[in-house]
Amino acid sequence: MNLGVVGLQWGDEGKGKIVDYLAKDFDLDVRFQGGSNAGHTVHVEGKKYIFHLIPCGVLNKKVVGVIGAGCVFDPEVFFNELNDLKTYDLDIRHRIKVSKFCHLIMPYHILLDKIREESKQVIGTTKRGIGATYEDKYGRVGLRIGDLFDAESFKEKLRVNISRKNHLLMDIYHAEPLSDSEIYDKFMDFADRLKDMVVDDSRYVHEAIDAKKAIIFEGAQGALLDITYGTYPYVTSSHTISGSASIGCGVGPHQIQDVLGVVKAYTTRVGLGPFPTEDKEDTVLRDKGQEYGATTGRPRRCGPFDASVVKYSARLNGVKKIVLTKFDILSGVETLRIAVGYTNGKDFDPFIAQDLTPVYEELPGFKEDISAIRTFDALPDEAKDYVRMIERYTGLVVQYISIGPDRDAVIVKK
Ligand code: GDP
Ligand code: IMO
Ligand code: MG
Repeated sequence: MNLGVVGLQWGDEGKGKIVDYLAKDFDLDVRFQGGSNAGHTVHVEGKKYIFHLIPCGVLNKKVVGVIGAGCVFDPEVFFNELNDLKTYDLDIRHRIKVSKFCHLIMPYHILLDKIREESKQVIGTTKRGIGATYEDKYGRVGLRIGDLFDAESFKEKLRVNISRKNHLLMDIYHAEPLSDSEIYDKFMDFADRLKDMVVDDSRYVHEAIDAKKAIIFEGAQGALLDITYGTYPYVTSSHTISGSASIGCGVGPHQIQDVLGVVKAYTTRVGLGPFPTEDKEDTVLRDKGQEYGATTGRPRRCGPFDASVVKYSARLNGVKKIVLTKFDILSGVETLRIAVGYTNGKDFDPFIAQDLTPVYEELPGFKEDISAIRTFDALPDEAKDYVRMIERYTGLVVQYISIGPDRDAVIVKK
């Protein structure tokens, strides 16, 4: 069976930890959208890994990682990440495949993202060039990994692109122009180092399906950052919901049999944009949960769990079962709160998200350290009530509960 794993809030729900935990039962781990804006953290045997582009399932030694066509690809980040893994004695070059259809994040995309963020167009992006690269993809002027292998034609496409971008850089942003020869040389070197890993991802994944291999699809970001259904314009530039897994590596929707949603036991968001349950005074969740971005180090905004947000996201993803993460962080919070609706809106709606006023239900908290518990029954009664309350107000089944960053810190509930 093939399984999608997606975030149901604003990203950083703990997808990395869950994909790594589940990956032992899979042969392929496919990233299908986004790029190095993602930061997926995994803790195994006392070591901490942060993955931006490489699918994190590769920490399981039989898993092949696939970077699918829906991703945007920064070769610099990719090779740095491969090297970082080598410092942990993990050489995965024979277990990583990259789609020739991925659009390349070029230095001018990163530059434009930074310049825009520092001028008027402020979204609070990760400044990794994501939006500018997808703009070129949909504007039909982008450069793809497959283009790298025809050097002459790549040179010409690059020249045209840089000349366009230099107009923009100089005339609109009053910045220095870029030189194409330096970028060309750098990318030819990347091409050489990449060539053995480049595949037609759709063919590769279909061959795996035919060979009865099991595939996990690793989502990045979260449903509320989806380019269409998220809190637009404060979103990322890709489709972050489960349907994206199909177009992001060339498989049919029916070939992904199930989708699991990952949900933090409270809510966080990094970057700008509406967040109905944000607690601007919070320091407890941020400090205890170490809520700082894995990619940019920025402090994450924190607040209580919002059942309507999760219900909205679950629908977009066709999700019925969820994983509740970071539950251990709530221990010691005297009164737990869950937003169960809004005073001025029936359901979550991104068009009015900035005006929604949550209605909270309160529950007594639990004091015990729950990080060593491995069964639902052994949880304190207050903790069980919190989980049941989430199930009641979201209409979803909590299948797993994560109670620590380590791989084995998981309670299987059903
Ligand atoms: P992702 O982007 O969805 O993969 O999530 P991130 O890696 O950006 O952020 C999740 C953070 O929470 C990481 O630092 C994880 O190591 C950590 N984490 C994940 N699950 C748990 C958990 O159940 N308890 C605790 N304490 N930390 C967790
Ligand atoms: P993972 O996969 C949390 C946010 C940025 C910004 C917006 C647009 O680790 O959950 P972008 O650089 O994509 O153009 O930024 O999206 N963002 C994330 N927030 N987790 C992520 O990924 C994110 N990737 C992008 O903070 O608000
Ligand atoms: Mg993250």
